[in-house]
Amino acid sequence: TPDSETIRAIIAAERHREGPLLPILHALQAEYDHIPESALPLIAEALALTRAEVHGVVTFYHDFREAPAGRHVVKVCRAEACQSMGANDMAARLLDLLGLDGYGTLPDGSVTVEPVYCLGLCACAPAAMVDGTLLGRADSPAIAAKLAKAEA
Ligand code: FES
Repeated sequence: TPDSETIRAIIAAERHREGPLLPILHALQAEYDHIPESALPLIAEALALTRAEVHGVVTFYHDFREAPAGRHVVKVCRAEACQSMGANDMAARLLDLLGLDGYGTLPDGSVTVEPVYCLGLCACAPAAMVDGTLLGRADSPAIAAKLAKAEA
């Protein structure tokens, strides 16, 4: 669990940069795989921002997670080329198949589904990434099968 000593040390290491907020958030994300809730007031204090301002930046950038990810992570591309090839429907079917109401993590912690904006695989849209492996012409059954195999 994130301790405030470590969080303070990470903030202190980055705070003197120009535009320190994003480097701090990236460093925290690298350490904890998400931005711990308890870091928000510490960052706000260090940078003389409000907590709401810090939270706004965390939610604005899709790189940052607000909670730890599940054991498996699916990123579904929602950028233009993939959208034009049915990415939205594919994402909706996948969420449905997994029993998720929207992007996020299943209650058992097995899978997190996140939107992402271009995986660089536009020629094989719609694109997805399952546990770091790119998947072109992705469809929900193929993703579900990959997840089932990963969990087995
Ligand atoms: Fe989806 Fe580029 S738009 S991979």
